[in-house]
Amino acid sequence: MWSHCSKTHILCFFLALLAILALVHNFYQLENLNTAGFKWLVEEDESQPSLHTTGTHRKLYCGYEHQVLSKIEQKEEESLFAAVQWPKPPENKVPFVRSTDPFHSNFMILNSNANYRVGDQLEVLVHMKDYDGNPKQYGGDYLQSRIHSADLKAGAIGRTVDYQNGSYRIFFKLLWPGEVTVSVSLVHPSEGIQLLYRLQEERPDRAYFKSLFKSGRISEITICNVCLPGDMPVCNFTDRYTGEPWFCYKPRRLSCDTRINHFKGGLKKGLLTSEESNFFQSGVNIKMPIPSIGPDTVIVRPLGHGELNSLESSHNSDVFPSGYYYQDEWQPRTRLIRHFNKSSDITECLQGKLIYLFGDSTIRQWFEYLTKFVPDLVELNLGSSKKVGPLMAVDPKHNILLNFHCHGPPLRFFTVFTSQLHYIANELNRIVGGKNTVIAITIWSHLSTFPIEVYIRRLRNIRRAVVRLLERSPKTYIVIKTANVQEHGPEVSLFNSDWYAYQRDTIMRKMFSKIGVYFVDAWEMTLAHRLPHKLHPENIILKNQLDVLLSFICPLETHYRFLTGIHNQMWSIFV
Ligand SMILES: *[C@@H]1O[C@H](CO)[C@@H](O)[C@H](O)[C@H]1NC(C)=O
Ligand SMILES: *[C@@H]1O[C@H](CO)[C@@H](O)[C@H](O)[C@H]1NC(C)=O
Ligand SMILES: *[C@@H]1O[C@H](CO)[C@@H](O)[C@H](O)[C@H]1NC(C)=O
Repeated sequence: MWSHCSKTHILCFFLALLAILALVHNFYQLENLNTAGFKWLVEEDESQPSLHTTGTHRKLYCGYEHQVLSKIEQKEEESLFAAVQWPKPPENKVPFVRSTDPFHSNFMILNSNANYRVGDQLEVLVHMKDYDGNPKQYGGDYLQSRIHSADLKAGAIGRTVDYQNGSYRIFFKLLWPGEVTVSVSLVHPSEGIQLLYRLQEERPDRAYFKSLFKSGRISEITICNVCLPGDMPVCNFTDRYTGEPWFCYKPRRLSCDTRINHFKGGLKKGLLTSEESNFFQSGVNIKMPIPSIGPDTVIVRPLGHGELNSLESSHNSDVFPSGYYYQDEWQPRTRLIRHFNKSSDITECLQGKLIYLFGDSTIRQWFEYLTKFVPDLVELNLGSSKKVGPLMAVDPKHNILLNFHCHGPPLRFFTVFTSQLHYIANELNRIVGGKNTVIAITIWSHLSTFPIEVYIRRLRNIRRAVVRLLERSPKTYIVIKTANVQEHGPEVSLFNSDWYAYQRDTIMRKMFSKIGVYFVDAWEMTLAHRLPHKLHPENIILKNQLDVLLSFICPLETHYRFLTGIHNQMWSIFV
């Protein structure tokens, strides 16, 4: 391009100007985030920062709200709270019979007989009713929805708008031709969501943790958490670098530095009254299908040949849904995906790469999948627990090193040694990075029982480390795997509901947008799939997640030209 410059000086001048503007813009964005980080440290003594408060009524619990935030951080935190604001029932105590009943409720496809074509929008209206069949007058129910074609193993999720009067509208994008079926389910009634919110704010101790302290022949076990109520003496294990809070009650005879491990204490029972428990019943109002009135399918016709060009130009990075399944293969809508069907394709892609997986068991599944599927990648026996790690696998022939480390406390694992408790932010600070380094991060599930502030703080620390890493080594691949949906019973709902995951996922996506990281949309990839929801998704879903990951590192080279040679269905990639 630059070689033509002598001929078209003016064009080149504008190109250069544009490039400079783009650079300055990017620099400014990073700068903003980074100073947000430093201000946190520097401004502490000044009168500028105020104690964290939010506009809404939030019951304060222990110490998270004593975070000192810079003005930028405070503003961000307020906008994050606004983004996850959820409508509440008008009264605190609604009798069960007046709560949302999925069986009496219904959905209806608008214009089900219309001439639908690939790329069109499909709209569905949902009307909620209570157990007496009366229409609900307020919103706040949590719905999940998808369109799917069983014979094509195709699926995609919908986006819900809550009218807050008992009606909801769901928007789908029709992405493949054929007969397409709509499914809508009630995950929790709004009356249940209100209780989940209350538990999040008032009972962050409902999942609790323990540590063993040991010295000589004396050993003691005490309870630990991000904060501990009461006046009993505590050991302060707050992280020196990140400020992430962690406390254990002080053992009676031993000193704090004799702590040797961390483990899941348990989940508290009896959190709800029997009346309240009615809002969480399997087979009644947890993840129950809502019936349709009228047809629940539409026929979608394929696109004609001449329409390809207009599709290519709609290439955009902020699309909903982000992708869909077709023949059980994930098709992201903003970039082409490569399918790594053979283990040798994976080996070739990862040749010379240093790969770090940080987070919870859902990213440990990537480690397990890769070591199982790629024979050259041999797991080393480090004597560590298979669940907790650290895990390591090598392929010395192709110079590949794969690591898994779990994130810092809280972890609901069986036992983690104190020496293995590392915060992701601190780990990132120890990585050189570069074009041969791939870092993938997932953190959500173990933080679902705490107020949102706890999660935001954790992400803020990780983001600060990511921004620094990308500054020193801009070519580093940093990939965030989002949360995923899972199976729910009455108990899991109170600790790990998809609603908790959805709220955290919303926050994570906002906080990590525009800083140059890649996303693997595990949320859509589990919700759109035909298989039942599972905390640990099946291999077919993991395979697709890894195809997305590997496509970031080893993209298809012949980008657009590739499109012209393939069949009609693929054209809808850029719809
Ligand atoms: C609910 O609100 C929507 C949007 O304002 C409106 O179109 C609809 O008619 C309302 N439904 C009922 C039952 O009031
Ligand atoms: C715990 O330690 C951190 C720093 O290590 C300190 O900032 C914090 O105030 C301490 N918290 C309590 C409750 O002692
Ligand atoms: C990978 O496997 C899938 C399903 O078996 C198949 O549809 C696809 O064409 C294969 N892709 C490549 C690149 O081999």
